[in-house]
Amino acid sequence: TDRYAVFGNPIVQSKSPLIHSLFAQATKQDIAYTAIEAPLESFTATLARFRAEGGLGANVTMPFKLQAFELATDPADSALLAGAANALKFEGDRIWAENFDGVGLVNDIQRNLGTALAGKRVLICGAGGATRGAILPIALQRPALLAIANRTAETAHQLARVFDGHAVLQTGGYEALAGESFDVVINATSTGLSQASLPLPAGVFAPNALAYEMVYGKGLTPFLKQARAAGVGRIADGVGMLVEQAAEAFAWWRGVRPDTQTVIQRLTVPLT
Ligand code: ATR
Repeated sequence: TDRYAVFGNPIVQSKSPLIHSLFAQATKQDIAYTAIEAPLESFTATLARFRAEGGLGANVTMPFKLQAFELATDPADSALLAGAANALKFEGDRIWAENFDGVGLVNDIQRNLGTALAGKRVLICGAGGATRGAILPIALQRPALLAIANRTAETAHQLARVFDGHAVLQTGGYEALAGESFDVVINATSTGLSQASLPLPAGVFAPNALAYEMVYGKGLTPFLKQARAAGVGRIADGVGMLVEQAAEAFAWWRGVRPDTQTVIQRLTVPLT
């Protein structure tokens, strides 16, 4: 049995063990996938022990994604540009690192939600780690515009510099969005976990827009309520992104791509 695990703190809430065991069952892969809560000050040692015991790969969630990237000997572009890793693969002394969150988001929007990003006007709200992971995979789909709005406008402007040469970004505060509308609006702020709403100008949602909340399983978040109130008919939370990023990691580790539809259905929590 090959061993994999997800590392985080806290970790009880993680759906990754369930998702990967469903993938393993469906693809007849003989793996064990567990959840490991690393103490906040000893992620490196906890991961090293897992490797020493024969672990072949890991997912990494909050708050260890930056450290996971720093430990990598072979980071992929996705991890380099995000400055964070959510999937690791161990081979001898080497640690390969990827960040599959962004490709998971794009696959969910395009394949599961049926919205091609090419030629679309796309807005990401927030300029933290979740946004950094999403920019490159979205830009690769050639949207007409990729805008980043953030409460602290300067943090958004910094992203434009980080991604210079990889993605053209329109960056600023929320007030700068006045008079513009978008086909896809993604909430990558942490407000999905709080009760704060974003100061989005009226009209930010184009007719037939998709409103996408990256957080999963919180029902109607303030952002999704805002979208509903603005008349948006197509809303989604991050359940598909979660399952799709897991499928990328599984395929990377095992060389077999699992079907995601049944797993997404099983994890979906109604948006009410
Ligand atoms: P993550 O790694 O999940 O992206 P993060 O790096 O801490 O988390 O980033 C949190 C994001 O949520 C930031 O863009 C933050 O905006 P600031 O850069 O201005 O802090 C945004 N955010 C958090 N609370 C918010 C609020 N009440 N209103 C608007 N944006 C908020």
